[in-house]
Amino acid sequence: MLILAIESSCDETAVAIIHRDESGEPKILASEISSQIDIHRKWGGVVPELASRNHSLALSPLIQQALENAEVGIQDIDAFAATSGPGLASSLLVGNTAAKALSVATGKPYIAVNHMEGHLISPFLQDQGELPANIALIVSGGHTLLIHMKSFGDYELLGTTLDDAAGEAFDKVAKMIGLPYPGGPEIEKAAKSGNPAAFALPRSMMKEPNFNFSFSGLKTAVLYTISDLNPDDGAVKPEQVADLCASFQAAVIEVLVKKTIKAARKSGVNKISLSGGVSCNRTLQQELQKACDNARIELHLCQPALSTDNAAMIAFVALHKYLAGEFSSLDQGIDPNQKLV
Ligand code: KG4
Ligand code: ZN
Repeated sequence: MLILAIESSCDETAVAIIHRDESGEPKILASEISSQIDIHRKWGGVVPELASRNHSLALSPLIQQALENAEVGIQDIDAFAATSGPGLASSLLVGNTAAKALSVATGKPYIAVNHMEGHLISPFLQDQGELPANIALIVSGGHTLLIHMKSFGDYELLGTTLDDAAGEAFDKVAKMIGLPYPGGPEIEKAAKSGNPAAFALPRSMMKEPNFNFSFSGLKTAVLYTISDLNPDDGAVKPEQVADLCASFQAAVIEVLVKKTIKAARKSGVNKISLSGGVSCNRTLQQELQKACDNARIELHLCQPALSTDNAAMIAFVALHKYLAGEFSSLDQGIDPNQKLV
């Protein structure tokens, strides 16, 4: 069985083709990504109008490229999938309309996919069989979710952020420090030569009897630290960058790791998965791995190429939906605020 999926919820245009053979093993035949990061970088963040225009330019050649790389024809595809939300409305519409048009032209089904479900199951993309029950920490630019995944489609929301998402906090703090967009990888790079204990920054909501997160207090604390260090002009000096980045990163990671382990203990689940763009962060991976080893919990990480936005994870969700007979109607719209649970 062959699925072609399109992802266009934010600033990456992506197309993937996934194959499932008789043994049940999914295989990615093509996973193409056209990044718009350079286009948005000079504005310091994603500009929705520019994003949708560039999705529309990039998408058709990317579909052709994916078919060529997978060495299949459009008529060989068994279903067409696209991200239907959450994301930027005008960007979602581009990928969605293309998938529906391909479905009409070929007579094959259309499958709408929630972007967050893509991230959620991405750590298990190359596994065979049923998805294992696990506590999933999804940390992306728009979301911070702690979910008890019982099986495919059966999810319990344990916690979410009350303000900024983890990736959003990385991006905003990077901007304050004067680092380019997207800030996550820049902070990680600068933090390598910094001291994580240089500045005492808050670990929010650690004592609350729930699994929610809050990063806006931490963001404000970084802002005050910067103005205390630089009372004259408020501008960060080059020699302050590494310590600020390392201290901020350590604060975010400590909260994420401790809450995730606590959620696994409370739910009695012995598997944790980590996904979303922020899961590329090596220090987060290492700290979570250490904590999981201590708690005798198995950690499932995403391959780096599947951590940030991609269409292979959308194709993987569509594959599960196809097998469950869950198809979408052609008049189903996009939903920029679509919830997973
Ligand atoms: O999942 P993703 O590609 O897009 C969304 O669905 O939002 O996540 C993008 C986010 C951005 O905020 C980016 O700064 C962050 O992931 N990110 C990182 C790293 N790489 C990407 N954050 C921390 N460390 C990284 N290495
Ligand atoms: Zn994403």
